[in-house]
Amino acid sequence: FLLFVEFVTVSFLLGYLSSNTIVLFPQAEIDAAVQLLLKLKVDYKQMTGQDYKAGCPPSENLIVSNNGPAADDCDGEDLVDPWNVSASSTKGVDYDKLIVRFGSSKIDKELLERIEKVSGQRAHHFLRRGIFFSHRDMHQILDAYEKHKSFYLYTGRGPSSEAMHVGHLIPFIFTKWLQDVFDIPLVVQMTDDEKYLWKDLTLEECHRFTVENAKDIIACGFDVNKTFIFSDLDYMGASPQFYRNVVKVQKHVTFNQVKGIFGFTDSDCIGKISFPAIQAAPSFSSSFPQIFGGKKDVPCLIPCAIDQDPYFRMTRDVAPRIGLLKPALLHSTFFPALQGAQTKMSASDPNSSIFLTDTPKQIKNKINKHAFSGGKDTVEEHRKYGGNTEVDVSFLYLTFFLEDDEKLEKIKEDYTSGALLTGELKKILIETLQPMIAQHQERRKQVTDEMVQQFMTPRPLNYKF
Ligand SMILES: *[C@@H]1O[C@H](CO)[C@@H](O)[C@H](O)[C@H]1NC(C)=O
Ligand SMILES: *[C@@H]1O[C@H](CO)[C@@H](O)[C@H](O)[C@H]1NC(C)=O
Ligand SMILES: *[C@@H]1O[C@H](CO)[C@@H](O)[C@H](O)[C@H]1NC(C)=O
Repeated sequence: FLLFVEFVTVSFLLGYLSSNTIVLFPQAEIDAAVQLLLKLKVDYKQMTGQDYKAGCPPSENLIVSNNGPAADDCDGEDLVDPWNVSASSTKGVDYDKLIVRFGSSKIDKELLERIEKVSGQRAHHFLRRGIFFSHRDMHQILDAYEKHKSFYLYTGRGPSSEAMHVGHLIPFIFTKWLQDVFDIPLVVQMTDDEKYLWKDLTLEECHRFTVENAKDIIACGFDVNKTFIFSDLDYMGASPQFYRNVVKVQKHVTFNQVKGIFGFTDSDCIGKISFPAIQAAPSFSSSFPQIFGGKKDVPCLIPCAIDQDPYFRMTRDVAPRIGLLKPALLHSTFFPALQGAQTKMSASDPNSSIFLTDTPKQIKNKINKHAFSGGKDTVEEHRKYGGNTEVDVSFLYLTFFLEDDEKLEKIKEDYTSGALLTGELKKILIETLQPMIAQHQERRKQVTDEMVQQFMTPRPLNYKF
């Protein structure tokens, strides 16, 4: 009710100001009314988490919608930004709606076929199964590549803790595939500065997490001669060209724009407000003179989860104004928490995901105890009605990690018909993840400090064209 009163008051004041100011009121009264209006807007934002918008009463689920063009819609939508993701439905985020809202393009059959034709490889199962589902300008990247013009990959990781979970591997598994099939260089940005600004961590901790996470990234099998991993805290100071691009972006984005894109408020520290320029800079090849010899026109392709898109909408908006190329993007869906596609994985809740450090026994227990089931309550009912693979987390995880299409299809059929029980489905997932995680741990053990040092040293890389 309070919210509603607030909303009505703000609406009234706005109408009052816009229709009456010039003619009827002395300056002092107008100033007082403006002050009151601004204060009400701030209160409104604090109470609802939303910016006040004329004509849009607060939605019940109080979602901040700062997601681009269609954010003016009033209906309660999925919340997707770089810091929060929450879906309004148990099936998770509505990705088709998100494509429309963000103004990106769907990865359709035609694009899949082109990727296969140009790379000469069968598309990765993340592409075939719609895990990477949306893109910006991927056709342009392929056009250039067909004309023997190379591109490079840029992806990143926010090192907020030592523990990475299986979901964190998704962009890296996919990026490694792209690097292998196209034979191109990769830069990996470790945003330790961002984690310092956003979390209650010291600089030393953030930098240490960068090194620890880099080991997990290296364990994904990246080619050291084609991959540069960098810590913002180190590289910002070491590379004059990188910092020059940061400053160019900073000059061309206003406080109002980042407030609109990211939902920053007046009480956010100034480090947060300028950070988006630092995540933008690796999209430009001139930020890496040691790799590209000062070339400004090597196109960049960014594989990332779609929550990172706001950064790159901003980057693509700025790029032509500073004489640089817009980066292309491939967007992935989110990796669901064990408790279901609607909830978020959290590093502070070990039960919400499978971590790369989990033992076979922990993996088994977590899946058996916590993986949300789309099955029926009793065996009799399950046999009769079958299970729902759309919400079953074990099945969803298998779409990420079970490469065999036929086997996956058979599991889907059997689970839907009721022939396969939840316990049996969970067993298949456990037997898929246990060896996968064990192999990762084995490869990570082989990663020495010298190797990390090598990957993180600015140097020339090998690439095809
Ligand atoms: C979004 O995330 C930030 C940072 O983690 C947090 O402070 C904020 O309260 C969240 N907003 C919503 C609407 O959940
Ligand atoms: C990287 O390049 C060096 C020097 O050319 C070579 O000795 C090494 O085998 C290469 N490593 C890989 C993984 O290809
Ligand atoms: C995780 O699950 C285990 C077993 O169900 C439980 O004992 C533990 O309290 C849970 N931990 C958290 C943080 O919820």
